[in-house]
Amino acid sequence: MSWVKEQSPEDKIIQEEIIKEGNLPRHIAVIMDGNGRWAIERGLTRTEGHQEGIESVRDIVKASSQIGIKYLTLYAFSIENWKRPITEVGVLMKLLEHYLRQELNELHENNVKLQSIGKSSSLPKVVQKLLHEANETTKDNTGLTLTLALSYSGRWDIVRAVQMIALDVRRGKVSPEDINEDLFSSYLQTTGMPYPDFLIRTSGEMRLSNFLLWEMAYGEMYITDKYWPEFRRNDLYDALINFMNRERRFGKTSAQVASEKDTKQKDTYLQRVVNAIKGK
Ligand code: FPP
Repeated sequence: MSWVKEQSPEDKIIQEEIIKEGNLPRHIAVIMDGNGRWAIERGLTRTEGHQEGIESVRDIVKASSQIGIKYLTLYAFSIENWKRPITEVGVLMKLLEHYLRQELNELHENNVKLQSIGKSSSLPKVVQKLLHEANETTKDNTGLTLTLALSYSGRWDIVRAVQMIALDVRRGKVSPEDINEDLFSSYLQTTGMPYPDFLIRTSGEMRLSNFLLWEMAYGEMYITDKYWPEFRRNDLYDALINFMNRERRFGKTSAQVASEKDTKQKDTYLQRVVNAIKGK
């Protein structure tokens, strides 16, 4: 089913208004927190909380794709999550398996490229196989890149990158003098993706929880009190509007940023005039 066709007219208008404003993040990362609390507060089981969390995943993936976000990275299971009770880990792995089986066709039909980051060898064989299949099927898609962080942690990825660089130094492929930020990034699992410019975390917790530690150096953070299962597209729109109104300084002064913005606005204006003259 095409996601563009099933969209309601009202939702389309909201998205068009947001797109018109410009300045959308290129890469949104999400810490999906609060499935358990959402369920317990409603007298439900934690499993039901995770199930409802998947409904949020579906809606946020669709809305991100429709609005033209290029990269969406979801923290679905951290390395630390292996310490949860074995029954809950089992439930999460089953839900993941089910999600991959059920969604692959629809994601592919909607031009989504599905990939994962993390220590995939720790995942159940069946999940590894489904991830590989999803990766292969969607690798040439050009729409949203949806990355599932599974058995992932930021420190794990950094240490892994250091080990690989050290091996390449030993093999003579890299000399220590060549090691800089760009080279280091190219050894991370997120290589090839822009750094996240926006991170959303649900359920009010104000921490990174070992997610994309290197990559989030300059990413903007948005924390909402809503639990993940209740976070849907309208909440995403609020977050995007909040992002668009922020000033990203990257260490510069406000005045510098304002003057660059001015130039950019003039550039866009100029581009429009030039295009009009060209009759585009
Ligand atoms: C946090 O809630 C959520 C998780 C540890 C897992 C997130 C998983 C899903 C949304 C479902 C599977 C995902 C995909 C992509 C199919 P919590 O259990 O930590 O909640 P709590 O902090 O309230 O206990």
